[in-house]
Amino acid sequence: MKILVTGGAGFIGSAVCRHLVGDLAMAVVNVDKLTYAANLDSLKPIAGHPLYSFYKQDICDREAILGILQSEKPDAIMHLAAESHVDRSIDGPAIFIETNVMGTYAMLEAARTYWIELEGTARNSFRFHHVSTDEVFGDLPFDDSLFLETTPYAPSSPYSASKASSDHLVRAWNHTFGLPVVLSNCSNNYGPYQFPEKLIPLVTLNALEGRPLPVYGKGDNVRDWLHVEDHAKALVTIATRGRIGESYNVGGRCERTNLAVVEAICDHLDKQVPREDGTQRRSLITFVTDRPGHDRRYAIDCSKIEAELGWTPSRTFEEGLADTISWYLANDEWWRPIRAKNYSGQRLGTGSKKP
Ligand code: NAD
Ligand code: TYD
Repeated sequence: MKILVTGGAGFIGSAVCRHLVGDLAMAVVNVDKLTYAANLDSLKPIAGHPLYSFYKQDICDREAILGILQSEKPDAIMHLAAESHVDRSIDGPAIFIETNVMGTYAMLEAARTYWIELEGTARNSFRFHHVSTDEVFGDLPFDDSLFLETTPYAPSSPYSASKASSDHLVRAWNHTFGLPVVLSNCSNNYGPYQFPEKLIPLVTLNALEGRPLPVYGKGDNVRDWLHVEDHAKALVTIATRGRIGESYNVGGRCERTNLAVVEAICDHLDKQVPREDGTQRRSLITFVTDRPGHDRRYAIDCSKIEAELGWTPSRTFEEGLADTISWYLANDEWWRPIRAKNYSGQRLGTGSKKP
């Protein structure tokens, strides 16, 4: 099988490419514009592999995408390319509408033209897999409620609203044009190669460098954490075996408050690399102004993908977090250039900029 992956130089997309080529020996065509969030170093393990190829391309350019589809002839598309950081969507929503909404529209139209021209088995087995987020479902109260595939959409941020819009477009292209789509909505990912603006790598690297650890509000917001390699396996399972027109919720069954996550990172680092003055890194925790519109809680019911497709998360959060921290400690050549270039150590995104 040959799969065209969009956003394959990003955090989750690179894990998908490494899994497809490295573990499953499947061919991958990676299409990525290489925004600030991309890093070709994340693809080093497979970069020279004969099954792997790369196109630097904006997904908003429908004709260029169609050209790649027609020349590469993939069996499926896994569409991950997106602007993905909530804080950035508050500071500057426009690129989120451009990439996540218009880019998905361009991908759907290119895929539709390509698919219509396919024949026989290639046409019957073609899939467009749209990779989305649990944030489209909005804010859960602090009770035992969970997001189901049938939970109504109620996005809160420009990011989640743009992803919700793209999900609606994907469903419409299935209902109206018959495009064979499948969707997935996943909870917060963590793991190696995550851009250090997201909570876990940001806090890990700030803690290592003795910088303040910004916790929004009281730190009592809850997220459901899934290791990126578990997500990559779920995504390939969905792309290859998911039912047309269906969506699958993917999550880790690992709900934690942000403060608990930050404290766990501090405690891990104190054990692995104690500070010279012997002080605890929890002392670096700094409560800062809350993110505007900050959803209180996300939590996924992933029983559909477990029952139907046999996927289940393989690691506990504690195992995955320990591995992730060890990875950042061992791979400073990956993150040092990013920190030096993009990040001053201050909190990103407060929604304070004028549009
Ligand atoms: P990321 O920001 O790390 O990577 C996004 C990638 O898309 C980058 O390589 C970037 O260069 C590329 N890209 C952006 N705009 C593009 C364009 N116009 N054309 C081509 N490429 C473009 O994101 P991620 O965390 O890997 O997320 C990947 C997908 O998974 C997104 O669709 C996101 O909404 C979804 N998702 C993420 C999470 C999470 O916790 N990170 C959870 C659930 C779902
Ligand atoms: P983030 O990693 O940005 O993912 P998302 O907003 O998609 O859930 O944030 C995870 C949680 O951590 C979210 O509730 C916001 C919070 N957070 C902080 O408290 N401090 C930070 O510096 C960041 C980046 C996030």
